Amino acid sequence: MLDLRRQYAPLHRELLAALEHVLETQQFILGEQVASFERAGAAQLAVKHAIGCSSGTDALWLALNAAQIGPGDAVLTTPFSFFASVSAILRAGAQPLLADIDPVTFNLDPDAVRCALDTPAAANTKAILPVHLYGQCADWDAFSKIGIEYGLKLIEDAAQAWGAQWNGKPAGTLGDAAAFSFYPTKNLSAAGDAGMVTTNDDKIAERARMLRQHGMRRRYHHDEIGWNTRLDGFQGAILEIKLKYIAGWNDARRAIAQRYGVLFRKAGLTDSGPYPSKGIVLPQEVQGAHHVWHQYVIRSARRDALRELLAARKIGSEIYYPVPLHMQEALESLGYAEGDFPESERAAREVLALPIFPELHEDEQQTVVDAIADFLS
Ligand SMILES: Cc1ncc(COP(=O)(O)O)c(C=O)c1O
Repeated sequence: MLDLRRQYAPLHRELLAALEHVLETQQFILGEQVASFERAGAAQLAVKHAIGCSSGTDALWLALNAAQIGPGDAVLTTPFSFFASVSAILRAGAQPLLADIDPVTFNLDPDAVRCALDTPAAANTKAILPVHLYGQCADWDAFSKIGIEYGLKLIEDAAQAWGAQWNGKPAGTLGDAAAFSFYPTKNLSAAGDAGMVTTNDDKIAERARMLRQHGMRRRYHHDEIGWNTRLDGFQGAILEIKLKYIAGWNDARRAIAQRYGVLFRKAGLTDSGPYPSKGIVLPQEVQGAHHVWHQYVIRSARRDALRELLAARKIGSEIYYPVPLHMQEALESLGYAEGDFPESERAAREVLALPIFPELHEDEQQTVVDAIADFLS
């Protein structure tokens, strides 16, 4: 599914030298190395502020909190995402509200968001939190319009989307604030947990910096209850090096996604979608999006049997995500029930992520396609 050693091999000298530098400076938490990565990250995205922190989950919590979203507020997001998209809202003290996804992109559906916002339950909504799922930006033309119309803040969950764009604007610069994850399987990855908040808003940036260090502006003077969610020097050093390569890696992912498309079509395995019947439905890059293919996710009506066949042939695959968030036990108190978000529920039954990473070989892709052809025949 993902062989991180192939990325490490050509970089290992450069990475080890950077780690040694951190050891020499003994600046293990924040410090110059983290500041340097933050400057480089901000410059790459052309965003005013980049604030490193301990994880993507914390980045979401920080972004919400720094944007003054908390108790008494509701935040509208998607049920088809990683758990943290919703749990961070609860951790910030706010109430998550959910709306269904678009079956083509798997991203939050702007029409469903409008319907949800027009209900009495949405009276306290203060923000929308769209997720750029699988590396493709949510429909930002629509969300910026909705944001203005309803007077809402927009917080991006850009955990899977470093380098993605909407109409030429990078993910991380579209909303009031954004959260990135650098979990080791992400397209831009650390060697452990790491995350980042980005924003063009000086006040949000200042609050995020304060909140990531126990609400301190001045040492040992605590203005608010923040948390300890600092980025460490080793991760900063590794991430700054990887920033130099990420554009090339994202291009390689795009080329692999395109090649999958060619191979699957040539083999005659594709249904036109959005739902599968006898074949598979391929993922699409929609108008306006520059997709970075963090994941390549197909749909199959017989997904579980297909996954078993792939596993028998030692081909990795993964289900992101098998249980929509409104059906998670831990989120029962949100008050939703099975049947509330049919697109998310159907996607959870049909999606299958196939191997995609910059160093994946052409013959390995062919092996994946051949296995799926055998399955479908
Ligand atoms: C969409 C999404 N949001 C949030 C997160 C949380 O990031 P992390 O695992 O770095 O805490 C992830 C990563 O798993 C994610 O995929």
